[in-house]
Amino acid sequence: MHKDCEYIMLSEQKIQEIVSEMAKKISEDYKGKNLLLVGLLKGSVMFMSDLMKEISIDCAIDFICVSSYGAGTESSGRVNVVKDISQPLDGKDVLIVEDIIDSGNTLNFITKYFEAKNAASVKICTMLSKPSRRVVDIPVDYVGQEVPDEFVIGYGLDYAEKYRNLPYIGVLKPSVYS
Ligand code: IMP
Ligand code: MG
Repeated sequence: MHKDCEYIMLSEQKIQEIVSEMAKKISEDYKGKNLLLVGLLKGSVMFMSDLMKEISIDCAIDFICVSSYGAGTESSGRVNVVKDISQPLDGKDVLIVEDIIDSGNTLNFITKYFEAKNAASVKICTMLSKPSRRVVDIPVDYVGQEVPDEFVIGYGLDYAEKYRNLPYIGVLKPSVYS
């Protein structure tokens, strides 16, 4: 375990179990549809690659990178598209792939953004969710695991761009950021 990690919340094995189950459900739900997975950079990279390997129906992938304005670690709801998707969404069934939903501001923005691009449907798939932190009440269609209000790292999740490469999800020691 990394020295900055307080404890491991989800082991590599547990993550793989969760991801397999989500992929199975998605493969059933999107049978006969025009599935496009859109990963939110950078946090979703590991989840996206594990998830797509387990999806058994045809799908395409794309990525979008956004940043939210605002002070500190809180997102403000004013979101800026840093790197846009590279294709039209008309007629596509978009499934947004995200690492963690906190306030919901980011996904609230992106869902509307994709709907405005005429996607046939827009749904959300997230590895983690912190329901106690929600500010915007958005429907989340697939949730890997609900977590308490603690700062988590690894499996794509960062603190100041560090720890994304850890293969497990752990809780960051508060001494690192306080
Ligand atoms: P939201 O707009 O508040 O829902 O912001 C969600 C984004 O905040 C996620 O995509 C993460 O990048 C980041 N985030 C929220 N909580 C955590 C955490 O515990 N660890 C790492 N990143 C987090
Ligand atoms: Mg993120």
